[in-house]
Amino acid sequence: MACLMGLAVTLLVACQPIGAPPLSTPASVEEFIEGASGVGDPIFPLLGNGGYDVQHYTIDLSVDAARNEIAGATTIRSEAIHPLRSFHLDLAGLKVEEVTVNGAQASFERSGQELTIIPSSPLNAGALFTTFVTYAGTPTPIEDADLGFVAQGWNWRDGVIFVVSEPQGAMTWYPVNNHPIDKATYTLRITVEEPNVVAANGVLVEEIDHGDRRTFVWEMAQPMASYLTTVVIGDFVRVEETASTGVTIRHYFPPRYADQLTQAFANTDEMLTFYSDLLGTYPFDAYGAAVMPFPLSFALETQTLSIFGLDMATEGVNAHELAHQWFGNAVTLASWNQTWLNEGFATYLQRLWLEHKLGREFLETGMRRYYAMLSAMKTPAPGNVDARSLFSLSVYERGAWVLHALRLRIGDERFRQFLRTYFTRFKDGVASTEDFIAVANEVSEQDLTDFLQSWIYDENLPPIPEGTVSISSD
Ligand code: TRP
Ligand code: ZN
Repeated sequence: MACLMGLAVTLLVACQPIGAPPLSTPASVEEFIEGASGVGDPIFPLLGNGGYDVQHYTIDLSVDAARNEIAGATTIRSEAIHPLRSFHLDLAGLKVEEVTVNGAQASFERSGQELTIIPSSPLNAGALFTTFVTYAGTPTPIEDADLGFVAQGWNWRDGVIFVVSEPQGAMTWYPVNNHPIDKATYTLRITVEEPNVVAANGVLVEEIDHGDRRTFVWEMAQPMASYLTTVVIGDFVRVEETASTGVTIRHYFPPRYADQLTQAFANTDEMLTFYSDLLGTYPFDAYGAAVMPFPLSFALETQTLSIFGLDMATEGVNAHELAHQWFGNAVTLASWNQTWLNEGFATYLQRLWLEHKLGREFLETGMRRYYAMLSAMKTPAPGNVDARSLFSLSVYERGAWVLHALRLRIGDERFRQFLRTYFTRFKDGVASTEDFIAVANEVSEQDLTDFLQSWIYDENLPPIPEGTVSISSD
């Protein structure tokens, strides 16, 4: 869903700039191209692929949880953007057995994470086509020295399977156009042996009993970036929280911690109400936490079902991952050097929840403490990070300060209007720093470009703007 969302015209015509001459010549054989192996991400050149746009994934997995083996059949419905002789998917590890395109056997090659598919007949621009890939093996999560705190993708630990992929790991368990600019909807059909339970993104629409095995069908009806797909398999209880917003709140907890975690997450509904009032209606049908029975030192905002290490089940982290559902998930970063757009927003919104409960002075004092720390540490600018700084202090805390500085500069009322406008405009798609600045300029009716750029890109931390609040910074 990258290029054109929901318009009933062909991409070939609709993606032409307005005023360009119509493309009228039918593609001859020579015009078919080989789809690119990446979408040009500045940090991950091989993530995503060129030439087509995925609309829907149906991932059908049979999982032997005791041995960590999977047999998969993934069906991908896409639209060709260019006339294609071949195209790529991303898949790391596993053994591919068969590939068909529109039901006909296709040939394929593998090289690293690139799965190249050559359909038996080429695809015309604008054509809808279905790719079907069967595969099997034990998924291997990606260990990357730049992101040492996590093995990205499909993890197996103490009899539990959980998927945490940001940024690259989705390709460890299904073939995918693995870049946020190509969001799609998903159906996840996962079969496991009893008594395992499967939780995944979206809504549990069906549970099929086969005797000693069960299939859980999960439907993610709104567009989702691949790094936000998740599956959790193991011994979990589903705990529903009363919801006042019409959103289903369902958590998945290890049975022996269920009471304590039910308490810890009991105000999720109140948080959902707070963020919905502040930002606009919650963008998905359900929300909840899946808490692992062991510590992880991280949590991840997997869409509609955030994953938490047992050590991360706190109110602050809950607010952070919930806030990501608006910023990060519904509105997603356009490229991986702009993680501040995800993390700066979630960090600042987490503080706004605390401000809501504890007051403006609490927020201001906290923000100024971080400012002093960023200043003392000479923390670099968050706006264009490299692979090692994707989830650095700068991205979280200088990122949060970009928003606080904007708020001090334009006042609370305009700032709220900014958050709502930015969310509504880019929901279900991606946004860049440029988009962020453009909306700030528009809503404030001022040219804030230099001001915001200095907060986002300058090596030195800019001075705190004179705000409407006066609180001594010691
Ligand atoms: N986005 C996570 C957060 O809420 C941090 C993170 C990045 C992460 N990559 C991850 C967590 C991979 C788990 C796995 O701040
Ligand atoms: Zn985050």
